[in-house]
Amino acid sequence: MNPIDTPAWRALAAHAEAIRPQHLRELFADDPQRFAHFSLHHDGLLLDYSKQRVSADTLRLLREYAETADVDGWKQKMLAGETINHTEGRAVRHMALRAGEQAPSEVQLVLSRLQAFCERIHSGEWRGFSGERVTDVVNIGIGGSDLGPRMATLALAARQQPDITVHFIANVDSADIAPLLARLNPRTTLFIVASKTFTTLETLTNARTARDWLLATVVQESAIARHFVAISTNLELTRQFGISPENVFEFWDWVGGRFSLWSAIGLSLALAIGWKNFEQLLAGARAMDQHFIEAPAAENLPLTLALISLWNTNFLGATTEAMLPYSQSLHLLPAYLQQLEMESLGKQVDRDGNMPGIATSPVIWGESGTNGQHSFYQLCHQGGRIIPADFIALRENDFPLPGHHTALLANCLAQAAALAFGQTAEEVRSTGITEDLVPYKIFPGNQPSSTLLLPNLTPYTLGQVLALFEHKVFCLGALWNLNAFDQWGVELGKQLAGQLTPLLSGEGDASAFDSSTRGLIAALKG
Ligand code: F6P
Repeated sequence: MNPIDTPAWRALAAHAEAIRPQHLRELFADDPQRFAHFSLHHDGLLLDYSKQRVSADTLRLLREYAETADVDGWKQKMLAGETINHTEGRAVRHMALRAGEQAPSEVQLVLSRLQAFCERIHSGEWRGFSGERVTDVVNIGIGGSDLGPRMATLALAARQQPDITVHFIANVDSADIAPLLARLNPRTTLFIVASKTFTTLETLTNARTARDWLLATVVQESAIARHFVAISTNLELTRQFGISPENVFEFWDWVGGRFSLWSAIGLSLALAIGWKNFEQLLAGARAMDQHFIEAPAAENLPLTLALISLWNTNFLGATTEAMLPYSQSLHLLPAYLQQLEMESLGKQVDRDGNMPGIATSPVIWGESGTNGQHSFYQLCHQGGRIIPADFIALRENDFPLPGHHTALLANCLAQAAALAFGQTAEEVRSTGITEDLVPYKIFPGNQPSSTLLLPNLTPYTLGQVLALFEHKVFCLGALWNLNAFDQWGVELGKQLAGQLTPLLSGEGDASAFDSSTRGLIAALKG
């Protein structure tokens, strides 16, 4: 299927001609009930998409295109365990990880092992080689084996378990791990080596450094068993690394790295917030799964987010989408969503091996509010580009200090309104400003945004939100006829890095490389 060739896509393209010139000011003036007409409530969440540049007809046409693209059919294939990740020959079953009593037995087994392990760490039953209890846990992983637990540990910091600190190391740059190791005590530190493949250069380099650091204090290799556990699908490589099988928590190739927070990859998070809270995270995601599976298109939150993203990207010409959580706790959510959306959807070749030549994943970026207001919002307001935004706000905050939360929420609403409605020349003049400054004070507005309002930030609501975005990605994959579950685009750089490593150590012949790379090698070697 080439989306462009479908009647539903063509109908959207024609309709976009009529919508593009309209300003959100007019759309709101024409419909006093616009908020009610373009917002959805579900299980405590509110999605207000009334500030998107859409009409009722837009939504109708978008949903017709969703039928053409057979989003529901693809959903059924995913649920049936079909090999929808066709380029890797894998099913896509991350929902099974949080299916509770419906979860497959192998999932339940690993969850019960994880629970038992968490309890042993928290109770102090698990001891390091010197007999001391674990005070620090270091998750060594990158990408999907890092971003999810790292982001969620920060988001749920109010639920941090006492007497244990969880750290995250990802970068192969020694500036990441070295300062941390300098602060830690090898007798009381537990390392979690988290890698789906157990071949990732960054993770294995850091894990070897951590192992050497431990063995510098204790000579017996047997101490590794008290201080290293692994999470992987590759049990052979974890064994070769020296981690005994009883210290390995398994997951499966039908879990994509960026969808793996719910698997054993969540161990560091579970250690940070406690097992009961981790279960609540799974429960929130499970509830969103149910909604995604059952809710009709007009009420379906993930599908609605996906259709809006498609509309902004393919019909209004947006190339980016800003994620703007008005929550310091969700400070890392944009980075997490970057991997989720861009690694899944940043592709041009469709499921049939063709290049239909349509824009796909927008560049996902963002920053927590209000910080971003003091850096990049200027461009959003007056830079002349269309920059759709997703505001995320919490009705209640985990850290209730007088004055803070109201100010935060007021800024969130203010920015969404300013972006949407702007400020006209007449409004500027009415402030009595000198005429020469008027052009500088005009805000064109008409910047589309949605606001996702959560009652609070709990493991349950975080689980809902993350599953919401996972399913948004799934829908966009179907809408763009892409396989959202492979990531071939990350491979070439890895191969070249493998070839360049010996060259930087002065071994081998660099002549196959271009003059720029050769020049840089020479400069680095001094
Ligand atoms: O290089 C990209 C990637 O493969 C991601 O898809 C993945 O989340 C990350 O690397 C880490 O991979 P692994 O968990 O196998 O170490």
